Amino acid sequence: MQLESVQGASDALAAQGYLADRQLAMAVHLAAVLEQPLLLEGEAGVGKTEVARALAAATGARLIRLQCHEGIDLHHAVYDWDYARQLLALRAAEGGVDEGELFSRRFLLRRPLLDAVEADPELPVVLLIDEIDRADDEFEAFLLEFLSDFAVTIPELGTIAARRRPIVLLTSNRTRELHDALKRRCLYHWIDYPSPERERQIVAARLPGVPEEIATRVVAAVARLREHGDLYKLPGVGETIVWARALLALGDEASLEETLGVALKVHEDVLRVLERGVLEGV
Ligand SMILES: Nc1ncnc2c1ncn2[C@@H]1O[C@H](COP(=O)(O)OP(=O)(O)O)[C@@H](O)[C@H]1O
Ligand SMILES: [Mg+2]
Repeated sequence: MQLESVQGASDALAAQGYLADRQLAMAVHLAAVLEQPLLLEGEAGVGKTEVARALAAATGARLIRLQCHEGIDLHHAVYDWDYARQLLALRAAEGGVDEGELFSRRFLLRRPLLDAVEADPELPVVLLIDEIDRADDEFEAFLLEFLSDFAVTIPELGTIAARRRPIVLLTSNRTRELHDALKRRCLYHWIDYPSPERERQIVAARLPGVPEEIATRVVAAVARLREHGDLYKLPGVGETIVWARALLALGDEASLEETLGVALKVHEDVLRVLERGVLEGV
């Protein structure tokens, strides 16, 4: 299979337009052969989520995504009961339904983790647990348990174990540190901003036919903004791509300064960059 070598993993991702450096390709390769979850950390916009998408597409796997958020719990992540339909069933039967029937699969709503556990073992799955740093401690503790046995317990139905382990990617923007226990369970890779050379290649891969001078200029501008340091929010690779598209669409008349809103989304950041002439000479 493609993921059985580092080069294979790298090629598979590249075929989906995702350019991974060797360390990332190695991490993906190891996650596949060791069947261990891979935790990807990095600033927003460095391509963490996209790894999962590219990996699923490359391997013909189904991508199951759990987007974490504040307050996420089992009802969002694993299963819930379809209360509205239960109520209808109760009414229709005028009270003559027994509880076992109400809490049967007929009324079960499958959320991403149960979906992954019950997936057909013939069809590969990539499970993406995205932005886990947004979830709270309790949910992280639950995940730790989930990742160790790939099973979920529904009191009314019993324990359901996965028949095949999916490839699991977790991402974190590192808005907080994750627990050691969870990290120990995972392989770990930090995704950095790409080098200018690599970022030009990414722009070319994502926007085939983009003139080289536009790619070079945008990549240099983005590098300046990132180096500038004291901005609230640094532009990610996605912003670089959109900026190149914007310049391409506007043609000759567009300047970097005028189109700064494509890359920076905090008003103070835009003002600071203009005042200090950060982009001068790019
Ligand atoms: N190495 C890469 N190769 C190709 N595209 C990339 C790469 N890194 C980032 N991108 C692009 O940048 C965008 C932002 O990536 P994303 O995965 O959403 O970032 P994150 O999840 O880290 O915030 C994506 O749309 C993707 O197309
Ligand atoms: Mg993301």
